[in-house]
Amino acid sequence: MVKHRIFKVIGARDMNRVAKWIMGYVHSGLRSRATVLALKGDLGTGKTTFVKALSNVCRAQSRAVSPSFVLLRTYKSADNTKIHHIDAWRISSRDMGYLGFDAIVQDPRAIVCVEWADRVKSVMPRRTIWMNFQHISINERKVTVKFFV
Ligand SMILES: Nc1ncnc2c1ncn2[C@@H]1O[C@H](COP(=O)(O)OP(=O)(O)OP(=O)(O)O)[C@@H](O)[C@H]1O
Ligand SMILES: [Mg+2]
Repeated sequence: MVKHRIFKVIGARDMNRVAKWIMGYVHSGLRSRATVLALKGDLGTGKTTFVKALSNVCRAQSRAVSPSFVLLRTYKSADNTKIHHIDAWRISSRDMGYLGFDAIVQDPRAIVCVEWADRVKSVMPRRTIWMNFQHISINERKVTVKFFV
């Protein structure tokens, strides 16, 4: 069954609350594949802020951050959760294949965050959790999470 959870987020730091809820959801069930979070919403609505909050909540350490043009970043936390962050703003569904997306989504310890996921919708797995980010005011955002129970 599909459910929706709506968060009113006041200030960037409040995004931690959304990240904590997501981690509670991830830990609430056994998974055979990666948790895929598809982030969509206009420029500056908080998608990257959410990924940062998620890595903070997991106390993840950044690894292999290339200095220039980065399409995929991977963070590893103490409990072996891997957080992958893909920015699909400039890429196509085919590029997702080049990034190794198919293999990444098979890993049950992985959380895969895809910014601008609506641009690569065709490769997003069926059980993807869609998160819609909306601008309310200068420091307020509305985040709608569509998830499965
Ligand atoms: N309640 C809030 N939640 C999230 N970000 C907020 C909030 N209030 C203010 N901000 C600010 O809004 C900006 C959000 O930028 P962010 O890079 O996260 O957006 P984005 O959706 O990733 O944009 P882009 O599509 O350009 O990648 C940050 O500067 C952040 O500090
Ligand atoms: Mg961003």
